[in-house]
Amino acid sequence: MTEVYKAVDPTLVPKKTLRSGDQIPAVGLGTFGSDRFTHEEVAEAVKEAIRLGYRHIDCAAVYMNEKHIGKAIAEVIAEGTVTREELWITGKVWNDRHTEVVKACQETLDDLQLDYLDLYLVHWPFPNYHAPGCDGDSRNPDSKPFSIEEFMSTWKQMESLVEAGKVRNIGTSNMTVAKFEKVLPLMNVLPAVNEMELHPCFQQPALFDYAVSKGIQPIGFCPIGSPTRPDRDKTETDAVDIEHPAVVKVAKRLGVHPAVVCIKWAVQRGQIPIPFSVRPNEYLSNLESSFKDPITPEEMEELATADCNSRLIKGQVFLWEGANSWEDLWDLDGNIAQ
Ligand SMILES: NC(=O)c1ccc[n+]([C@@H]2O[C@H](COP(=O)([O-])OP(=O)(O)OC[C@H]3O[C@@H](n4cnc5c(N)ncnc54)[C@H](OP(=O)(O)O)[C@@H]3O)[C@@H](O)[C@H]2O)c1
Repeated sequence: MTEVYKAVDPTLVPKKTLRSGDQIPAVGLGTFGSDRFTHEEVAEAVKEAIRLGYRHIDCAAVYMNEKHIGKAIAEVIAEGTVTREELWITGKVWNDRHTEVVKACQETLDDLQLDYLDLYLVHWPFPNYHAPGCDGDSRNPDSKPFSIEEFMSTWKQMESLVEAGKVRNIGTSNMTVAKFEKVLPLMNVLPAVNEMELHPCFQQPALFDYAVSKGIQPIGFCPIGSPTRPDRDKTETDAVDIEHPAVVKVAKRLGVHPAVVCIKWAVQRGQIPIPFSVRPNEYLSNLESSFKDPITPEEMEELATADCNSRLIKGQVFLWEGANSWEDLWDLDGNIAQ
């Protein structure tokens, strides 16, 4: 028998106000099915999640499912569940389209069957490309280190999309403080958000605080620590957020799955988590976690100590010839690695 779930009133979900004045729901649905779920399964989750109260969907061209998601969005609008204006749809330009952002954005709009995006991000700050699903050790000989000039040329195209009304807000993803320091002074339209890896075992306090101080809203990906990501994306030293004692302790007190605690922690800390799931019980509890049974200040303090700098998305497939290791992508010593 199919279980019937009670929809959440979307007005109960908190919102964050961006520098443009636009309000973005404080929890979104991730849509990267990786090689575990089909595009149809992800699109079905988007449709059902919107029916159950989600209003914020995090998409990207590289997930290769925007056509399927576009159909799902068109259906929920046609059936009267939502209007376009009630939805917050994020898209991202993939690394191999940095020189043709306007064209790439139009393709995303066509696939998603939309006239405009609420938010469009530069997915990675360099044009280094890898084949989807490729092995973690694979390298592209065309890869290059970060270039201010190249990035700014991409950003200018992003700015033109705002001017053309195709995109309401623009932002970055996978940036570092060192890269921001170089490019923020050159921008006409500042980033509204930075999408970055954030979960209890990887809190990135310096980048988080820097972004907030510049009016850049952090959006947190892998908010649950991506527990079922493919083996090629795992290393032995990776921490498991949903098994961390501080997370488990709160989960036991509230009688919820530790994943839900990760989402609560994220919302209460001030980032916008975008958890992925195709299971209605999971994505519904993730949405409800934003307004039900808050974590206490003492528990928040204990969760702050869960941070052990456990980056999961290391990005090694984007390394260029001459780079030493994935750490080079993240400017750990405060300098942009060349
Ligand atoms: N900007 C970027 O570069 C970037 C990078 C990575 C990800 N992202 C975005 O961030 C999204 C989220 O990241 P992610 O999918 O890697 O990781 P995640 O959201 O941390 O973890 C997702 C997994 O957690 C489990 N889960 C979710 N809710 C649960 C619940 N309530 N109870 C128990 N288990 C639960 C599910 O496992 P099961 O499937 O086994 O149920 C699901 O597959 C992506 O979909 C994508 O949109 C962006």
